[in-house]
Amino acid sequence: MPIARPAFDRLAAGYDRIGDTKPSNASLERPATTSMLSDVDDEFVLDAGCGVGHLTEELIGRGARVIGLDVSVEMLEYARDRAPAADFVAADLGTTLPFTPNSFDGVASSLAFHYVEEWDPLFRELARVLRPDGWLVFSVQHPHADFEEYDDATNYHEGERVSATWDSFGTTVDVPTYRRPLSAVLSPALGAGFTLEQSLEPTPTEEYRRANPERYAYEATHPNFLCLRFTAQE
Ligand SMILES: C[S@@+](CC[C@H](N)C(=O)[O-])C[C@H]1O[C@@H](n2cnc3c(N)ncnc32)[C@H](O)[C@@H]1O
Repeated sequence: MPIARPAFDRLAAGYDRIGDTKPSNASLERPATTSMLSDVDDEFVLDAGCGVGHLTEELIGRGARVIGLDVSVEMLEYARDRAPAADFVAADLGTTLPFTPNSFDGVASSLAFHYVEEWDPLFRELARVLRPDGWLVFSVQHPHADFEEYDDATNYHEGERVSATWDSFGTTVDVPTYRRPLSAVLSPALGAGFTLEQSLEPTPTEEYRRANPERYAYEATHPNFLCLRFTAQE
């Protein structure tokens, strides 16, 4: 069982309702990740770990044809309503992806990869399903923030399973995560032949400041997310 599936099945309704405006998503991570998307008009894009479909909706709005993939059947129910023009598939990013080689122009993924333990096979799979020279944009929780903020983190340099209690999506749920050092974020992609094009450690927008001035001061001075753009081998 993928570690985070039960948690996200329980979070789905709240994520759909609150995720539109929750400042850490709407005014911090999402603007940074979407700023890394180039022109996707008419491109075929995989949204890997699509959740309730926020990024899927954005990609469709920019003219892409999208398949959203997620392990949580409950999250996918909301994604289908949010982005009816997309196709969706229930699958585990920790296994062989259900696509033929060279299927996609691009892969976008927002805050999903840190629920997958083994990244070498994950990035080999992403390279396999992307066309040559295709693009990969993904965000994860920031390695420094994970190490500082998970109470059960013990050794920055070792990847480890950690857990936190979420209560900001309308229900209280323990969410397990695999945290890893920065080198272990980059190495699997580089090892699979990707070239790093761009990196962002986003800071909150003015909209965030208006929504939550106290938290803004913290977010403006502490990393929370890491957003990366890679290109696949030609
Ligand atoms: C924090 S949510 C992000 C959802 C969406 N990308 C967004 O930004 O709103 C993480 C998502 O990753 C999915 N996920 C977790 N582990 C997964 C796995 N092994 N395979 C596929 N999806 C997974 C969860 O079900 C959840 O929908």
